[in-house]
Amino acid sequence: MRAAALRITWTLLLLLVLVAASSCAPSWRARSIQVSRDPASIERGRYLANHVAICMTCHAERDYSYFGGPPKPGSEGRGGLTIPELFKTPKGLIIPAPNITPAALGDWTDGEIFRAITGGLDKDGGPLFPAHPYSMYRLMPEEDVEAIIAYLRSIPARPDTLPERYLKYRSLNGMLNLFPSPPAVTKGHLEPGSKKYEQNLMRLAGCMWCHSPQTRLAFPIPGQEFTGGTPILVPPPGAGTAWSTNLTPDPTGLGDWTREDFIGRFKRTTSEVVHQTPITPGGFNSLMPWEAYSGMTEEDLGILYDALRKRKPVQKMSPRWTPPAE
Ligand code: HEC
Ligand code: HEC
Repeated sequence: MRAAALRITWTLLLLLVLVAASSCAPSWRARSIQVSRDPASIERGRYLANHVAICMTCHAERDYSYFGGPPKPGSEGRGGLTIPELFKTPKGLIIPAPNITPAALGDWTDGEIFRAITGGLDKDGGPLFPAHPYSMYRLMPEEDVEAIIAYLRSIPARPDTLPERYLKYRSLNGMLNLFPSPPAVTKGHLEPGSKKYEQNLMRLAGCMWCHSPQTRLAFPIPGQEFTGGTPILVPPPGAGTAWSTNLTPDPTGLGDWTREDFIGRFKRTTSEVVHQTPITPGGFNSLMPWEAYSGMTEEDLGILYDALRKRKPVQKMSPRWTPPAE
């Protein structure tokens, strides 16, 4: 009896805290910074935005008639409708990945872009949906965030015709207030070979999101990270369900993959190969942005491999592809 009463009290308390927290909007001022536009910084930003953090794939219109759904050429950064079609999120949401070319960010300050990428607030300070993985970008080295901003400033302006974000439920609007928090970026720069570099690269590459079972709001379930088996709905012509693979070192996961196998798997799936792999109706397709990741350096891919090998092996088999129901 007492235990049940205690449980109810705790649940009520938790609910109260959640309601209170969701009614106060997070707010902090954007930094006043002006990022350097030197060519080395723009190049670093290009690499991270296209091949590691895949900003340019998420913020694009994807062409699912090719393997991995590469961005339609010329739509990189222009934004696209991504999230509800990928994950089993509640119905009634339209959350486009907005345009991040100078056509949209032209009147944002560098500090406002910094705050959106790493903290989850838009230009006016409103909370962004965590589908933009700001919780993964909070601890990024400052120099890398600035490099990405310099790169975004350097790409061509591409106008779009995307709809506005639409969240059907008021409660969801309130809940969004719970997630953003001021970034805690690392000063300066991280060196490959350090633990911090590895942790940052893992967060930035976002492998965990698709390769972990998810809660209803599409957050990875703690303790089950990288065990795969997440169903991901693939748009037509594939129109089936792709299941992410187990990336733990168990034989049902990456067990017998060597470093060379792993790096080779990525390096083989270039833009050219992807565009020579059209998808037939109902045919296997993946939502994993293989084309984008194929541009990652062998050094960074090796660091991801080493990080995955250190995880606890978990035995778990899942299908790879379920074709659409007849
Ligand atoms: C998994 C897909 C995904 C990835 C990866 C991603 N974003 Fe986003 N991003 C989104 C979505 C979706 C939104 C809109 C969220 C909302 O409206 O609540 C967004 C919002 C933004 C915004 C705010 C735009 C606005 O008009 O309010 C900026 C700026 C941004 N992203 C930049 C980036 C950069 C830079 C990267 C890479 C470091 C990145 N994003 C990676 C999906 C993504
Ligand atoms: C948008 C979702 C998504 C993201 C992000 C993603 N994956 Fe995947 N991944 C999948 C799916 C779905 C499959 C199964 C279909 C396939 O083989 O492409 C897969 C398959 C794989 C495979 C098995 C390939 C094979 O030939 O057996 C490896 C290895 C892999 N992913 C590693 C990674 C790593 C490392 C990252 C981060 C750099 C990553 N994935 C990011 C969805 C994703």
